[in-house]
Amino acid sequence: MPAVCAIEGTVFSDPWSARDFRECSASGVPFLIAEEDGVVAGYAVAHHAADEAEILNLGVALAHQRRGLGRALVERLMALLADRGVHAVYLEVRESNAAARRLYQQLGFRTVGRRPAYYRHPVEDAVILRTAIAAETRRA
Ligand SMILES: CC(C)(COP(=O)(O)OP(=O)(O)OC[C@H]1O[C@@H](n2cnc3c(N)ncnc32)[C@H](O)[C@@H]1OP(=O)(O)O)[C@@H](O)C(=O)NCCC(=O)NCCS
Repeated sequence: MPAVCAIEGTVFSDPWSARDFRECSASGVPFLIAEEDGVVAGYAVAHHAADEAEILNLGVALAHQRRGLGRALVERLMALLADRGVHAVYLEVRESNAAARRLYQQLGFRTVGRRPAYYRHPVEDAVILRTAIAAETRRA
């Protein structure tokens, strides 16, 4: 967990606290950690209720970015959510976060809304993205 928090602190201007991560871990929500050469390199967290899910967090360490890890984490998370019967996945992203928005667009997410001044440090709108999980990829 300290390695996840260390990455979080370097890739986000308004990072989750160690407590945020501990609470997610304790609650049993999908929480993936990616390693490269035995080193924690990225993580992804989601939660789901009934047939909808939300990606809550995604981070890849600076030294490991642009190697496909972010995409692999989201794809793995989507597969896990599909197995749990999820039909639709939502997430929020900073409007200016071009890297993440491009990644999500490549994975089929589309803009469905906006939350004005949702983020702090700096204050910025959130764009709400959604994608459907195709029936054939769901086992449940
Ligand atoms: C967004 C993030 C998770 C991407 O992780 P990554 O491992 O570097 O991403 P990938 O290597 O899997 O890239 C997948 C696609 O995302 C897009 N992308 C990733 N980084 C990008 C960048 N710096 N600029 C533009 N596009 C980028 C590209 O389309 C890329 O595909 P390509 O390499 O074929 O062009 C990473 O940049 C990160 O941790 N950012 C800070 C935290 C964050 O913004 N999290 C998401 C919050 S919603």
